[in-house]
Amino acid sequence: MSAFIINGGRRISGSVKVQGSKNSVLPILAATYLVGGKSVIHNCPKLSDTNSTVKILQALGCVVTRKGNTIIVDSTDAGGYEIPESLMREMRSSVIFLGAIIGRMKKAVISAPGGCEIGLRPIDLHLYAVKRLGVKVDEEFGRLNCSVPVRLKGKKITFSFPSVGATENAILTAVTATGSTTIVNAAREPEIIDLCDYLNKCGADISGAGESIITINGKETLIACEHSVIADRIASATYLLAGAVTGGDVSLENADPIHLNAIIPLLEEAGCNVNIRCKTVRLKAPQRPLRIDKIVTQPYPGFPTDAQAPFTTLAAVAKGTSVIVENIFESRFKHVPELLRMGAKIKTEGRVAVVDGVERLYGADVVSPDLRGGAALVLAGLCAMGQTTVRNTLYIDRGYDDIENTLCSLNADIKRKVI
Ligand code: EPZ
Repeated sequence: MSAFIINGGRRISGSVKVQGSKNSVLPILAATYLVGGKSVIHNCPKLSDTNSTVKILQALGCVVTRKGNTIIVDSTDAGGYEIPESLMREMRSSVIFLGAIIGRMKKAVISAPGGCEIGLRPIDLHLYAVKRLGVKVDEEFGRLNCSVPVRLKGKKITFSFPSVGATENAILTAVTATGSTTIVNAAREPEIIDLCDYLNKCGADISGAGESIITINGKETLIACEHSVIADRIASATYLLAGAVTGGDVSLENADPIHLNAIIPLLEEAGCNVNIRCKTVRLKAPQRPLRIDKIVTQPYPGFPTDAQAPFTTLAAVAKGTSVIVENIFESRFKHVPELLRMGAKIKTEGRVAVVDGVERLYGADVVSPDLRGGAALVLAGLCAMGQTTVRNTLYIDRGYDDIENTLCSLNADIKRKVI
């Protein structure tokens, strides 16, 4: 096990290149199995979730090679359709392979990915979508045996909630189905657009990505291509917040400002000056941030749930009281008890947290409860007085590529230590 040892109180300042998006690279790598041939994917972040995805591709028979941040997937001779339970359990988003495997093999055997630290995370919408397109799903002892008795046929799919993963699985299943599919109430996240950009480059016929209605005209064959993954908007928010909580001055190179449309106004409400020039986003923070009246998580283009925990740290040291409402996941406040150990004043009731900002947090020994909660604790360590130990770095490594060296390049005093 390893922990981050952080000596707080330093102004986080400097310029950093943002990693590729975790939530984009995972479905795109899964899609390379559907497409077949040899795909070359650039700007892939080095994450444990990316490693898990590569292991699944290899288990399906793909030849995967890595050159820096480029991953080359050759699935020409692959023919697998079953994901071992051990690999399914390594990460939640393994369920995204469902559509890719069914689209290629017309059958799939996976296990229900199970919940994780932030909630139950059912997959009923995923199963609804693939069944609409002609997939038969038999569930037995937690394993989903999927088959296509006749053929995959385009249909209208209407989601009761704009689920990101279910939208991705619907797209992956529909893109080679016979006929046209319309997805209503589709997720609008930038990662959906990135996935569809890759698939359209491979010859798919998808329109409306990024909107609530996506239309897919099925194509029999797709041709592998080269693609570069978008910047990670949640990592972008996290590094801007590192400046915001330490009175710092942080510039992001190669960010995508449009993807931060729901984040930047809240940073400005906290008293930060944010300057955007092309793909550079620069944040200059006040000595102490101001409270944010309300932080309400919503599906994109609303405020992203993945930025909620890191923003809680900003609220914890702000002047005044902030209210946070978590509408997407049912237990995404597990970082709060750890922040309380550092002197934060936060009360939670269900999906609401009321944060009374304090002048100073104090270093403590804390444990990451999940990926974004862990990031929140790292941010707290950066602005706390004294030393903070953040345990369970394995959660943080799922979504942040080399976070400690990235922060060190921004003047932080943070080291990884095996404990
Ligand atoms: C994706 O998860 C992201 N993960 C999550 O990022 C992100 O928080 C989430 O979208 C929301 O933006 C990846 O892309 C790999 P959902 P996903 O399906 O697809 C409920 C991170 O920190 N739901 O949009 O699992 C679900 O329980 C991670 O990077 C159903 O009820 O999210 C949740 O309450 C965490 N039935 C809500 O919808 C379903 O079949 C949103 O889930 C599917 C989802």
